[in-house]
Amino acid sequence: MEQYKNVKVMEHPLIQHKLTLLRDKNTGVKEFRELVEELALLMGYEVTRDLTLERTEIETPMCKTESKIIAGKKLGIVPILRAGLGMVDGMLKLIPAAKVGHIGLYRDPDTLMPVEYYCKLPTDVAERDLIVLDPMLATGGSASAAITFLKDRGAKSIKLVNLIAAPEGIKAVVEAHPDVEIYVAAVDEKLNDHGYIVPGLGDAGDRLFGTK
Ligand code: PRP
Ligand code: URA
Repeated sequence: MEQYKNVKVMEHPLIQHKLTLLRDKNTGVKEFRELVEELALLMGYEVTRDLTLERTEIETPMCKTESKIIAGKKLGIVPILRAGLGMVDGMLKLIPAAKVGHIGLYRDPDTLMPVEYYCKLPTDVAERDLIVLDPMLATGGSASAAITFLKDRGAKSIKLVNLIAAPEGIKAVVEAHPDVEIYVAAVDEKLNDHGYIVPGLGDAGDRLFGTK
């Protein structure tokens, strides 16, 4: 993905190890859920790298000193339902004060086009730095639609975090939203004829919620 300056593939060994466990078809629902949460937390560490710090005065048991804290940045986390929900708690462990908006989209199985069925966002979404969460970036239709949706409501700062992406999905989002930074743990080989990522991990929502 060297050709896209806004795409960061996170090669950290812990991320790669957990992703391997996640892909395995023998990984059950409980472990799958735990892994998605842990991966979101590990990726969140990098996603939040550019948060601004400011100085504050504190008193240690030894003396008064100046130290750094995160400046009062307004953050927002926006999972794409359903599967994005699995990444929320991991991200909130790092940035507990973030507000959470929800966008409900499902892919029409025939057209592969995203269909919106739910949206509830913080009222001040336009002033927040937003982090959109979805484990899978396949055709890119769902992520692109969610980002467009947020921009239509005034959002100016958006990052996208996916666990597994297909090259087609990355290309689609980069072309539609060149201002959005994309963080992924892996870029897989291709999409199959049904729009599933290969090798991928199967249907993220079904594996997360045990619906198949
Ligand atoms: C999955 C996934 C993404 C979308 C990716 O959701 O969680 O939202 O597909 O595909 P795309 O990049 O081609 O749009 P799905 O539509 O299966 O809905 P679900 O989370 O409710 O199962
Ligand atoms: N959605 C999924 O859950 N998995 C894929 O491989 C593609 C879309």
